[in-house]
Amino acid sequence: LAVIINICLVRLAYRCVLFLPDAVQSPDTQVGCVFGGSCVLPCHFQPNSDTILHWVRMKGNNDQVHSYYDELDQLGHQDPLYKGRTSLFHDQISGGNASLRLARVNLQDQGRYLCYASTSEYNQETFVTLIVRAAVSRVDIVLVNNTVTCKSGGIFPRPQLTWSVSPHPATVLQNTTEVHEDDQGLYDISGVLTTVYSDTESTYCCSVQNEDCARKARMRLHRKSLNIRMAAEVRSKE
Ligand SMILES: *[C@@H]1O[C@H](CO)[C@@H](O)[C@H](O)[C@H]1NC(C)=O
Ligand SMILES: *[C@@H]1O[C@H](CO)[C@@H](O)[C@H](O)[C@H]1NC(C)=O
Ligand SMILES: *[C@@H]1O[C@H](CO)[C@@H](O)[C@H](O)[C@H]1NC(C)=O
Repeated sequence: LAVIINICLVRLAYRCVLFLPDAVQSPDTQVGCVFGGSCVLPCHFQPNSDTILHWVRMKGNNDQVHSYYDELDQLGHQDPLYKGRTSLFHDQISGGNASLRLARVNLQDQGRYLCYASTSEYNQETFVTLIVRAAVSRVDIVLVNNTVTCKSGGIFPRPQLTWSVSPHPATVLQNTTEVHEDDQGLYDISGVLTTVYSDTESTYCCSVQNEDCARKARMRLHRKSLNIRMAAEVRSKE
């Protein structure tokens, strides 16, 4: 019974504070997290006794991501989507560090989070916006008959594919691009380009890029010797 009362009090306290006009507010912090990796959502509070921490996902029912009070993690009401993926830096809570470590980041984690910290002295709300990224990790290019196919996958946000050919052909080359979303919400992209016959050496360069990263694959083709050389290069964008 004692435990149940405790949880109810804490939940009540949290609800009330959400509507308190004088709660200390600061602008959202944006955090970019790599898909599949671990990420720290920063939160700092003024330490004092009776620390209560709630990390809440600001979406739908404002689900509980991680809670801490009575000097323990309190995960009885944790949203199952976050099960086994959250942790606090326990040894640093007494110093005012309420940052949350989130493991195995996926696309559903994107969005706004509330860090609510309450002590005997003061209540604080800070918001963190989590953005997920999956960089272009590799680009494959192959020649089959007279078409060049270029492929990449596991990318977020949505990528684009562009071709460049040198020497520059006299006409626009027939080419198509397809983008698919996989079951995790990441994008696969493939492009097919019909080559032109020529006696000169041609270079086909395929570039896949999104907001964060561009990666190129290049194929050099000499019709007479059927000599194919490939190269890849990466460029990160800031
Ligand atoms: C909290 O501690 C972690 C682990 O040492 C550190 O990475 C993070 O920057 C700290 N955050 C704040 C807000 O102090
Ligand atoms: C390539 O061309 C050959 C000969 O025309 C044909 O038999 C083969 O199916 C083609 N391969 C592909 C993948 O289109
Ligand atoms: C690929 O197709 C697009 C659309 O038709 C065209 O604008 C572009 O120039 C083509 N690329 C090449 C290398 O010809």
